[in-house]
Amino acid sequence: MDQSSAKFIVDGNAYDLPVITGTEGEKGVDISKLRAQSNYVTFDQGFGNTSNCLSSITFLDGEQGVLRYRGYPIEQLAERSSFLETAYLLIYGELPNAEQLRSFSEAFTENSMIHEDMKNLFNGYPSTAHPMAILASMVCSLEAYYPDIDTMNPNPEEFDQIAAQLMSKIRTIAAFAYKKSIGEPFVYPRHDLEYVPNFLNMMFSSPTRAYKIYDEVVKAVKVLLILHADHEQNCSTSTVRLVGSAQSNLFASISSGICALWGPLHGGANEAVIDMLEAIHKGGGDVDHCLERAKDKTNPFRLMGVGHRVYKSYDPRAKIIKECAHDLLAKLGIHDPLLDIAMRLEEKVLKDSYFVDRNLYPNVDFYSGIIYKAVGIPRNMFTVMFAIGRMPGWIAHWREMKDSPGTRIGRPRQIYVGPHKRDYVPINKR
Ligand code: ACO
Repeated sequence: MDQSSAKFIVDGNAYDLPVITGTEGEKGVDISKLRAQSNYVTFDQGFGNTSNCLSSITFLDGEQGVLRYRGYPIEQLAERSSFLETAYLLIYGELPNAEQLRSFSEAFTENSMIHEDMKNLFNGYPSTAHPMAILASMVCSLEAYYPDIDTMNPNPEEFDQIAAQLMSKIRTIAAFAYKKSIGEPFVYPRHDLEYVPNFLNMMFSSPTRAYKIYDEVVKAVKVLLILHADHEQNCSTSTVRLVGSAQSNLFASISSGICALWGPLHGGANEAVIDMLEAIHKGGGDVDHCLERAKDKTNPFRLMGVGHRVYKSYDPRAKIIKECAHDLLAKLGIHDPLLDIAMRLEEKVLKDSYFVDRNLYPNVDFYSGIIYKAVGIPRNMFTVMFAIGRMPGWIAHWREMKDSPGTRIGRPRQIYVGPHKRDYVPINKR
């Protein structure tokens, strides 16, 4: 913590505000007592300039394109770690040793099934239901099946159990939601398969069809899950923390994060990118028309998968995903015209003054859909894949929020701009 302070001068009065310095040197002015001292609040729509917490989970430097989980560069984790190991790192703060990883993995295996009664809930949905709707409801409903655990204030053992349940069961729920949508019987998780192959098997095998698990596919999905695993105070994670700050239980808090992720300006962008690339393809491949629409301020259309609140340089995750997309398509012998269109679009974005002046670069979702498509994952499951990946980050933030001294219920202020006091007028006099 820094001993320096900032000065806030208003109405002829000066107030000293403490300055907080993070471990990587980023500075913040602590305004938490400002209103009590001066009667002023701050105004920051979309929280573009507001820190809601101190966090030691993820470091992000949007100007330099740096992303680290618990200090470890994302590039190293994507290349050398497994999803479970990265999840453990995010949730517990350190890379696990062999024994810790073994027991973490065992907890996943033990918790991979969902309660048989939950299968009835799937049957209540129409086959047209979006899997994100099913996922959010099912994750919230999980709480109802574990009445013996204190999911609001779990002790350390209970927390370990719920964390493993959430991470393991989200995969089963996701695959069941998909099976429900295509009218096939559910495929149960298998104890002999690791996290990613187990999920792919539940998605793509059936009683009449074995699914061949390719290493290249497993690797690509693993990389995507790791890259999505956390991204500090993004919209869904902030939602999880905000809901959790009311002492809502972990399942409910994460369910609300899933709802936030669904939006096309956040995790739903991966689905929207493929819609956009396909529309360009169907229209003859003219990327210029799409760029002109995105730049036209009278048109609400935005280039999906481009731009980011925090990255003002190339998103380091997009770099890795782009390479991964090329590798996977080459190894599977797939030629996807959408990849060509995405690359042409990117090339123009990087040169066009509209995007250059606003620091708009491809983000994590620009190329991820191309990989999911090559793996055979249907478009409405793309954001579900994101949710599976983001689960350890949400859990880690919920835990950190609960354990941080001084955590208060999240409750922003507003500046009221409505009518002054006026007297009620009966309906016959209006
Ligand atoms: N296409 C065209 N213009 C854009 C785009 C885009 N994709 N993104 C931002 N801009 C423009 C805005 O119109 C604005 O222009 P102006 O200054 O002339 O008014 C300027 O760039 C700044 O944009 P903001 O909306 O203020 O940026 P903000 O930080 O609020 O939004 C967001 C970030 C939501 C990601 C935005 O860039 C966007 O809508 N991108 C497309 C959706 C997307 O890919 N979302 C996924 C993000 S990554 C994730 O959540 C996993």
